[in-house]
Amino acid sequence: MEEDQPRRDAEGLAEKVERLKRERGAVVLAHYYVPAETQRLADYVGDSFYLARLAKTLDVPVFVLCGVSFMAESVKLLNPARRVLMPEPAADCPMAHMVRREDVDRVRAEVEDLAVVAYVNTTAEVKRWADVCVTSSNAIKVVRELPEKNVLFIPDVNLGRYVAEQVPEKNVILNRGYCPTHNKIGVAQVEALELAHPDALVLAHPECTREVLDEADFIGSTKQIIERIAAGDEREFIVLTVVGVAAEIARRTEGQGKRVFFPEPAPVCPNMAMVTPEKLLACLGNMTGEVALPEDPQRAVEPLERMLELAGR
Ligand code: 13P
Ligand code: SF4
Repeated sequence: MEEDQPRRDAEGLAEKVERLKRERGAVVLAHYYVPAETQRLADYVGDSFYLARLAKTLDVPVFVLCGVSFMAESVKLLNPARRVLMPEPAADCPMAHMVRREDVDRVRAEVEDLAVVAYVNTTAEVKRWADVCVTSSNAIKVVRELPEKNVLFIPDVNLGRYVAEQVPEKNVILNRGYCPTHNKIGVAQVEALELAHPDALVLAHPECTREVLDEADFIGSTKQIIERIAAGDEREFIVLTVVGVAAEIARRTEGQGKRVFFPEPAPVCPNMAMVTPEKLLACLGNMTGEVALPEDPQRAVEPLERMLELAGR
């Protein structure tokens, strides 16, 4: 009897969330890195690019974004007339702040024929310094299409270096930001997995270090990694990104007998982990955690709009 209590609690919470969604006219969007229990309560789950462009296609007054600040801010910038709420407003991506204005200004002053390319994992303030945004799923395509020869890529050194290698016709200047979670995945952990599972396909997020990316058979965004696994004939996969993607991989490959392995200890984004079902329920109940439009929003919107244009909507 008692063993069923956690399941009953989860069902009770899910019912309350569904009722509040209807009452508030709210749609819940979640990133693959938030806890699986939170993803289960969302109407849409996806990667950064999907979430950024999806909101524009949905005619609802309220979005609840289960993810980190830059994702909610992007939804608000692209949909200024809608309310955007965060269940955990303190969930922030440390990399979003890892670039200095003075460094961008210096490169702009020194280098002609330059585009400043900001990874979408940036604050709205940083986006205002940029010419175009990219996500990990479209960075190569967008940079390739830029008319400028020189590119200052901010803030992620790892994604920037990967893009530079894939688009050799551009001169890419790097900044030193990084994702603490992906940066911690070490080559030794990957090699141990490869030894244990020699036939496994190795898939990595481009925020991993160069040494780790060198081990990978496939490099892509969270969504691209999930789709590659779902579509593949292989039976075993080593996945080098945050373990939150396991929930969607399990949904997409149910009954196929595929096995997925993550580094030990499993990579977790501590900020995404804060977005629990209980906080989602409280957010919908109290309509709290609203994201405000930044000052001079238009300047931050332009690079996002340009990304949507160049990446194909
Ligand atoms: P995706 O764009 O692949 O969803 O990644 C976002 C992110 O924060 C990766 O750490
Ligand atoms: Fe930021 Fe890394 Fe977390 Fe992604 S995984 S949100 S880049 S800290």
